[in-house]
Amino acid sequence: MKIIESCRAMVEWSNSRLNNKEIICLVPTMGFFHEGHLALMRQGGKLADNLVVSLFVNPRQFGPGEDFANYPRDHKRDIRLARETGVKVLFIPDQDELYPPGFQTEVKVASLTDPLCGARRPGHFDGVTTVVAKLFNLVKPQVAVFGEKDFQQLAVIRRMVTDLNWDIEIVGHPIVRESSGLALSSRNSYLDEQGRRKALGLFNALEFAAQQARAGVTEARGLEDVVRKRLDEYGGVEVEYADIVDKDNLEKSRTIDDNSLMALAVKVDGVRLIDNRLLLR
Ligand code: PAJ
Repeated sequence: MKIIESCRAMVEWSNSRLNNKEIICLVPTMGFFHEGHLALMRQGGKLADNLVVSLFVNPRQFGPGEDFANYPRDHKRDIRLARETGVKVLFIPDQDELYPPGFQTEVKVASLTDPLCGARRPGHFDGVTTVVAKLFNLVKPQVAVFGEKDFQQLAVIRRMVTDLNWDIEIVGHPIVRESSGLALSSRNSYLDEQGRRKALGLFNALEFAAQQARAGVTEARGLEDVVRKRLDEYGGVEVEYADIVDKDNLEKSRTIDDNSLMALAVKVDGVRLIDNRLLLR
């Protein structure tokens, strides 16, 4: 496995692969790898001749007071795991090179970023689309893999790629969970045993909502209210949103149908966690 740290070296490497008519797949990450990241990498490896993983904790997608400084980092372990997973290039760009002095260009997707996490984390998705656009320019992938855990992020990236006429296939990967049901997240490392138990409230609430939908509940507002109440009663879970939305345009569903997705964001012991599931599939 090659570790590339400079933007120029990254572009040169990609150009040489593309000259050989090879396919490049990119899996963008912020590191501190868990099974979710590794599953994306395995899928990416199957889709291309060359799997590139980027590792960059992107300051522009963290708001003031969020956890940029404390975000978990372990490059040594990440390098080992990437190597074991068959990654060809681990791209670890330098912050000052990615955002040189005077940087002032942003890529912004409009209304898809309004609801859900976009409403609670102003500027977050502008930071995500800006850095992913830069990574696409540097790595030049024909295919890229993103997790469905960050459902809104995936929708926003798809929109950006369509709107900017990029010839990049965006592949979504299902949510990877622990056997308990807890969705894997780098931020789970902030939780102690008790916190992890509380965090299971998310998965339980999603399962409950899906059961209700399968049992014939069709009114979205009512089901959201019940789910919010269950989470409140669960103890130690502070609900940020519990919304049923259309999976394609992220607009609030009125009645539950095949496209309805329940999206949750909560805080457990001050740690922000998100999860989601389609209700009828
Ligand atoms: P990060 O949180 O490191 O996640 C990297 C990729 O892993 C994202 O596509 C995310 O959706 C996926 N992922 C994380 N946990 C997952 C899980 N349990 N199951 C399936 N996929 C999972 O998302 C980011 O980084 C950043 O916003 C990034 C896209 C790299 C831009 O900075």
